[in-house]
Amino acid sequence: MTFDYGEFSFASKEEMLEKSREFWNPGKTDFWVESGVPLVIDRREDYFIYDMSGKRLLDVHLNGGTYSLGHRNAEVTAAVTAAMAHFDIGNHHFPSLARTALAEALVSTAPAGLTKVIYGSGGGEAVDIALKTARHTTQRRKIVSIIKAYHGHTGLAVGAGDDRFSKLFLADRPEEFPHVPFNDLDAMEEALRGRDVAAVIMETIPATYGFPLPEAGYLEGVKTLCERFGSLYIADEVQTGLMRTGELWAISKHGITPDIMVIGKGISGGMYPVSAVLVTEQAAGWLTEDGFGHISTFGGAELGCIAGLKALEISNRPETRSMVHYISDLVVRGLREIQADYPDWFVGIRANGVVMGLEFAHPQGAKYVMRHLYDNGVWAIFSTLDPRVLQFKPGILLHPGLCEDLLDRTEVAIRKAWAEVRQTSPSRDKVPA
Ligand SMILES: Cc1ncc(COP(=O)(O)O)c(C=O)c1O
Repeated sequence: MTFDYGEFSFASKEEMLEKSREFWNPGKTDFWVESGVPLVIDRREDYFIYDMSGKRLLDVHLNGGTYSLGHRNAEVTAAVTAAMAHFDIGNHHFPSLARTALAEALVSTAPAGLTKVIYGSGGGEAVDIALKTARHTTQRRKIVSIIKAYHGHTGLAVGAGDDRFSKLFLADRPEEFPHVPFNDLDAMEEALRGRDVAAVIMETIPATYGFPLPEAGYLEGVKTLCERFGSLYIADEVQTGLMRTGELWAISKHGITPDIMVIGKGISGGMYPVSAVLVTEQAAGWLTEDGFGHISTFGGAELGCIAGLKALEISNRPETRSMVHYISDLVVRGLREIQADYPDWFVGIRANGVVMGLEFAHPQGAKYVMRHLYDNGVWAIFSTLDPRVLQFKPGILLHPGLCEDLLDRTEVAIRKAWAEVRQTSPSRDKVPA
């Protein structure tokens, strides 16, 4: 059987994987094959993805919310398709119809006080913009983030994240990017008291760390410390924004108006890359001092802005909000029932809306569950910076019937993974890089 896609074709899945190794990324290709997830996504529709082999998977990875509205969401697809008759990427130097329209829509839905929008093409670039903006505003250089933070892999963002990724390219700069433990206000105060910190950047719920939830008062305390010591508060809402917690922006659940808010992933509608940074008037100074301070050919691409306008509008509908609360209650209730049967194995459920992390009692526990979920028709990914925890991210429009199906499949995978873990000697367990 030949896989013919018009512009290109492959004779078989094996040939495709071989060429992927040869011409694309041998490390990634081998990692997934060796992990028992030899996925090459072909067809995709709603919350389903299909491997080249035809195997169907319910997607609860969603690339961190990129596909929160489903794959090839019909309304987003229609908006972008119609826009292609008129718009393209646009010229990033000039005022633009689509960029201005999305900026106005974002400002009108954001926490009050965020009044200007700067665009990027991905989350990392948006984080870089946020950090540059904080440095310009405060004329300070240091950026504080949490240990196991993940803000992307671009120039500044990677320095604010875990050593695993910054050291690889000699981009770790501990004197400029101190990291402090999450949920530790004393450590945060210690880091800020020198009054030399431009900003604290904080994922509202740290995704790649496995969604540990902020303790009551923690984020509010960080904001107060920022105010006391003259540092800005940057909310990274790349994974938690766009209604995934049951509020459009998770940070508003804490009553915090950040100085800067970073948006990515889902704002693309899963259809056209775009990211955005919202800033207060106080932080917006460089936009008048030198409006060309950040230049990005694809930043705020017009087709991305059209996708963003539609994604924002769908995410912000009252019925979408109700749906998130409904799905969250249903799934968490089902997960608790499963947990009751495996209390020594399935040891934690972290949930805020449809942002969820499932914690297992083994250093690599989520990898076992991921593999069994894959075998059983569900795609969910382990947390890179804490592989005990499975990221479990249902879509915000997931049909209730599919939630029941998801829970049934999850129960089977958790049971089988537990049986495997008990059989496998820890010494044979492969520890990932
Ligand atoms: C919280 C957070 N911030 C920033 C990023 C970087 O986004 P991108 O991969 O689009 O550069 C990610 C990506 O996973 C993320 O999870």
